[in-house]
Amino acid sequence: MARVLSCIQPTGEVHLGNYLGALRNWVSGQHENDVFHGIVDLHALTVTETPNVLGNQTLSLAAMLFAVGLDPAVATVFVQSHLPQHSQLAWIMECTVSFGELSRMTQFKDKAAKREADFVSAGLFTYPALQAADILLYDAHEVPVGDDQRQHIEITRDIAIRFNHRFGDTFVLPKAVTPKAGARVMDLQNPENKMSKSASGDAGIVYLLDDPASIERKFKRAVTDSDNEVRYDRTTKPGVSNLLEILATATNRTPEAVADAYTQYGPLKADTGAAVAEMLRPIRERHAELVNDRAELARLIRLGDERAEAVAAATLARAQAAIGFLPR
Ligand code: TRP
Repeated sequence: MARVLSCIQPTGEVHLGNYLGALRNWVSGQHENDVFHGIVDLHALTVTETPNVLGNQTLSLAAMLFAVGLDPAVATVFVQSHLPQHSQLAWIMECTVSFGELSRMTQFKDKAAKREADFVSAGLFTYPALQAADILLYDAHEVPVGDDQRQHIEITRDIAIRFNHRFGDTFVLPKAVTPKAGARVMDLQNPENKMSKSASGDAGIVYLLDDPASIERKFKRAVTDSDNEVRYDRTTKPGVSNLLEILATATNRTPEAVADAYTQYGPLKADTGAAVAEMLRPIRERHAELVNDRAELARLIRLGDERAEAVAAATLARAQAAIGFLPR
């Protein structure tokens, strides 16, 4: 069984694009691999300045990961800040990566530019060192990531190679893998763009915790086109094709088969909204149950934290011994 690590930041609410594009695959992957899922709140701190938000977002995200079907008996779901090893190894990583290497990270350049007059923390710059720690602590063989994160996995490999060369073989070299293709869910208002929390407004984004009425309303108002023909063609009919793909995924069919069943946009929108509302109902209910049963949710998180910490502590000790710090 391969050890696979995926991490997610507790920033913003989980939406349909996250679910159909990634989380659903996490759930099916949990029986094929030894999976670790970190809620990386320390990473979120690079862009969070308001007190008392990270904890609640972390709690809600943890509930969501269990609600969509991660099984605590097989999947290790942990909270990054609960494990001091992440911060401890991150410093060692910072001393194993160069200023020049970090300066070449395109994500840093993008994020720093977008923050314009906002505070750009040093943590935003050293972020890849913390991410390297996340990955190397778990001897992860595979890290499924989108294209925007490939450079961070490459730098993690470079850091591991350099560390192993300097101090002796310590870390497993991870590799970036392309996640099993999930559905590519587009914004309902701007179907040329991926559904994403950085997109303009909420009208085009379906959140997993939206109530059925708002879900159906968002689909009814989805942007389509004016030629009134139901056909699956991502290039010339992005809006209609997005609806077809979502309905196909929700009902286990192909978008082409779904297209054959419709001649008008109205019923397609209504059925897609209804199918998505139905698909999300049990997730929303389970999420509410868990958030209202703090003791149970805390128990599940603790279970993951403890399993993760056993692995992380052993790896950190190995790295410290390889460096040859004076044992305390
Ligand atoms: N940087 C990742 C993102 O923005 C999140 C992340 C942090 C991560 N640590 C990780 C992803 C370790 C994979 C492995 O999406």
